[in-house]
Amino acid sequence: MSSSDVKNLRVVVLISGSGSNLQALIDGVTHGDLPIEIAAVISNRPDVFGLTRATEAGIPTLVLDHKGFASREAFDQELMRRIDAYNPGLVVLAGFMRILTPEFTQHYQGRMLNIHPSLLPKFQGLHTHQRAIDAGESTHGVTVHFVTAELDGGPAIVQAVVPVLANDDATVLAKRVQRQEHVIYPLAVKWFAQGKLRMVDNKTELNGELLPACGYQIEANEP
Ligand code: GRF
Repeated sequence: MSSSDVKNLRVVVLISGSGSNLQALIDGVTHGDLPIEIAAVISNRPDVFGLTRATEAGIPTLVLDHKGFASREAFDQELMRRIDAYNPGLVVLAGFMRILTPEFTQHYQGRMLNIHPSLLPKFQGLHTHQRAIDAGESTHGVTVHFVTAELDGGPAIVQAVVPVLANDDATVLAKRVQRQEHVIYPLAVKWFAQGKLRMVDNKTELNGELLPACGYQIEANEP
């Protein structure tokens, strides 16, 4: 069997906004660094820039507007049906701003990733950059983790740590963190696609070794 016979991992990416993390994945595929096929991009919001990015890359898109559903359960059930129609091996949440039902997270357990802009378990939820500044943190960062029923609580895979500088405001700090998002999300997806990454007993295993609770840590010393 030649390497061209090896099927790339099928990935469905869920977005709600600008899709810069989606773009990092698209770029990884384009440059031959990421052995995946992005089978579809699904957004719960119409008219977001991430959908344009997908279309420009020739990726099928779907809008499933949560506002058209009577309940969170009904939306998640339909979303699951739509995702599964693409038969993905991995679901990637890339700025998908929805709280997920336990049925949904259970269905994709061990094969769904999220990116959260903090050094989890610190600063779960929103406004993480301002909260890190207000708390006087000297470092901040971003975490890619497996998704479980606990919001922003699944086992960490990889974290990038950045410094918090004296004159930072939330916007400046967010930009520093986002540059690292675009490094570590493709990295985690690549590990998964290569079969190096597994969720075992609510922990992360990389290359057959259990990772510490913070995942694989990368220090990014750029200003
Ligand atoms: C990122 O900051 C990510 O950490 C958070 O939502 C944002 C999505 O940005 N979960 P984008 O849509 O990928 O540009």
